[in-house]
Amino acid sequence: MDVRSSPEQKVRAGEITGGVGQAVPHDSSHLHVSGEALYTDDIPEPRGLLHLAVGMSMRAHAKIRQLDLRAVREAPGVLEVMIADDIPGENNCGPVVADDPILAPGIVQYVGQALFSVAASTVEQARKAARLAHIEYEELQPILDPLTAVEAGLFVLPTQTLKRGDSRAAIANAQHRLRGRTGVGGQDQFYLEGQIAMALPGEDGSLFIYSSTQHPGEVQHLAAAAIGKHFKDVVVECRRMGGAFGGKESQPALIACIAALMAQRTGRACKLRLDRDDDMIMTGKRHDFVIDYEVGFDDTGRIHGIEFMLASRCGMSADLSGAINDRAMFHCDNAYYLENVSIVSHRCKTHTVSNTAFRGFGGPQGMFAIEYVVDEIARYLHLDALAVRRRNFYGKGERNVTPYLQTVEDNILEPIVDRLEKTSEYRKRVEEIRRFNRGSPVLKRGIALTPVKFGISFTATHLNQAGALLHVYTDGTVHINHGGTEMGQGLFTKVAQVVAEELQIDLDRIRITASDTSKVPNASATAASSGSDLNGKAAQAAARKIRKRLIRFACERFSVPEDQVEFHNNQVRIGNETMGFGELVFLAWFARTSLSATGFYRTPKINYDRATFSGRPFFYYAYGAAVSEAIVDTLTGEYRLLRVDILHDCGKSLNPAIDMGQIEGGFVQGTGWLTSEELWWTAEGELKTHAPSTYKIPTCSDLAVDFRVEMLESAANQENTIYRSKAVGEPPLMLSLSVFHAIRDAIASVDDYRTIPRLRAPATPEAVLAAIEAVRNGGAA
Ligand code: MTE
Ligand code: HPA
Ligand code: MOS
Repeated sequence: MDVRSSPEQKVRAGEITGGVGQAVPHDSSHLHVSGEALYTDDIPEPRGLLHLAVGMSMRAHAKIRQLDLRAVREAPGVLEVMIADDIPGENNCGPVVADDPILAPGIVQYVGQALFSVAASTVEQARKAARLAHIEYEELQPILDPLTAVEAGLFVLPTQTLKRGDSRAAIANAQHRLRGRTGVGGQDQFYLEGQIAMALPGEDGSLFIYSSTQHPGEVQHLAAAAIGKHFKDVVVECRRMGGAFGGKESQPALIACIAALMAQRTGRACKLRLDRDDDMIMTGKRHDFVIDYEVGFDDTGRIHGIEFMLASRCGMSADLSGAINDRAMFHCDNAYYLENVSIVSHRCKTHTVSNTAFRGFGGPQGMFAIEYVVDEIARYLHLDALAVRRRNFYGKGERNVTPYLQTVEDNILEPIVDRLEKTSEYRKRVEEIRRFNRGSPVLKRGIALTPVKFGISFTATHLNQAGALLHVYTDGTVHINHGGTEMGQGLFTKVAQVVAEELQIDLDRIRITASDTSKVPNASATAASSGSDLNGKAAQAAARKIRKRLIRFACERFSVPEDQVEFHNNQVRIGNETMGFGELVFLAWFARTSLSATGFYRTPKINYDRATFSGRPFFYYAYGAAVSEAIVDTLTGEYRLLRVDILHDCGKSLNPAIDMGQIEGGFVQGTGWLTSEELWWTAEGELKTHAPSTYKIPTCSDLAVDFRVEMLESAANQENTIYRSKAVGEPPLMLSLSVFHAIRDAIASVDDYRTIPRLRAPATPEAVLAAIEAVRNGGAA
């Protein structure tokens, strides 16, 4: 890899280039910007490649009376058409529960569900042909929203309850009580590279699949099952994704299975690439939630008892909804100690696309719930919202046990919030904004500071494992492979930095290679922000094995004790001699030393009993806080972000340049979720917002005019993570809760903070205008 120097790059004299902690650029940045990076669709197409398209259901819930595909088969360029009955193995692409058919067998459960696949000579021919099916439906009653599903008792998985203390009594005995309902919308992942897979039949029934996936191993397993083969018969590779954001944790299996089935049937290479509209209609998104709350608190704003009912839209199947809703429950505390608490979580079945992972994985929805309530309490008591937040913060040594009975041992909320309060001039600006608002009848400003505490680890304990494979060649260069995947987050760069550091060689001596199920087996999805924690440690273990072998060889060859062998800056000192790393490697090879090693890691300390919702699901927590200031036009509901100040904890950052990008990107993506991104379905269950023309993700012009991001300096992770760093992929997304509350604060100023504004997310201009009107009418929504 080619390491270019950047202004932030700190290379001390006599140190390797690209070691741990250096702000080196993403390994592929020069390829990204020049268009040379190979994404799945850029891989040279094999001879005889067939292009696929999918025929979709036009009904939300119906029996298929007749599926007449004659016109499809006869269309120009069409070679083959497949329906459910043609699948030789398992007709399932569900990751946890086998309730997700690849091709719908007789019953459809959402608009967009795959019914058949077409193979043709060109993409256009395949897509045109797919529209020629004649389908007769017998309509069944669809259930299209979570509350109707709760009433009907329709769930994809059983309802879960988490209780600690006596919330009923605590609420009843509290000085004040509030109850209400709010909600938060879903979100499309809007990766720039859409879902895609290319399957190549090999000899003797084997199959090779290129898939844009966060989870090559799962694609391997599901595709093998679909074609009626074993895992050994299928290899899946992914060099990089053009963004994933959770949308490629489970969803790529559908695409890859369709390609694999057609490749097996035709004996030819097959590629399926969804077009943007179909991608948005056919694949899962973030879950939208309905949130009911009841809270009892005292005059100071301290919460004594709280109850939540969460009802999420899971769509037609279970997908990852179990773990997502668990994580929502785990994050209903955010930064706050909830002594008496009850959380009921309904995993609602709806006849809409099955919802799935999205950055934060349910955590953001849980945190939205508690932040909404804390803000509500402050407004009710006419107290400063930050004071009420502080009043409820987890303590140190006391008030430090979560509702799921994990002790918060690494709490750094106070120092983060104290510092941010000062650097953002929060106090002064609150006063200034109030003054501004008194003198400004139309434009109103608002401000909010919100904290983030996010649990790091897969909540399903068994997923917290990783493997790596490292080869050293006789010229002293290195090939590194691990079970993680690259989606733009910089994982491959970070893992290579770890290897560079361990072997004390420059980063450009290390070749970063594609994720590949034949190199590292049984890997978990790259998800839960744990990619670098897990794969960094696995790669470290592999590099240490090699280093040990080289040390043993050097000791024997040069008759020195172990402590006389030292790796430093591309050199190895052996007693009084110094030689290049490559030289030692060559000698070791010549003396018949193995220069290939695997590494394995499993996260220590975690244990968690899902039956009782208790234990230690998280190895540690990542923290951060943000102050946002917005200005709202009360005649139109439009708003702008004036200023954002962020202070975020990355532990000892493996790469400050990459981590900075994650903080900024996560924050902006969260802001889109809470403000402009709105999914809109018709009464018949048809998603109408399936392109950028109707679905508005943030652009550069939506950034805060004044955007200040700072990383917490020298904050080593208290736990023994890879070089004491912290996961950073997801936590910053939730810093955007401050934007929502800044807008809410501006709305409240319309009647001088007398009425508590009701505001759902996303706070689109329409929603903001409606909330303003309601405040003007004295609170009646
Ligand atoms: N950053 C970019 N550029 N693209 C992505 O798709 N996905 C996010 C986050 N940051 C994503 C990203 C999500 S949902 C997760 S879980 C983490 O990256 C996964 O990578 P990591 O565990 O290596 O941080
Ligand atoms: N986060 C992300 N993905 C997951 C998780 C999680 O906690 N559990 C299973 N898949
Ligand atoms: Mo991220 S939602 O855990 O892929």
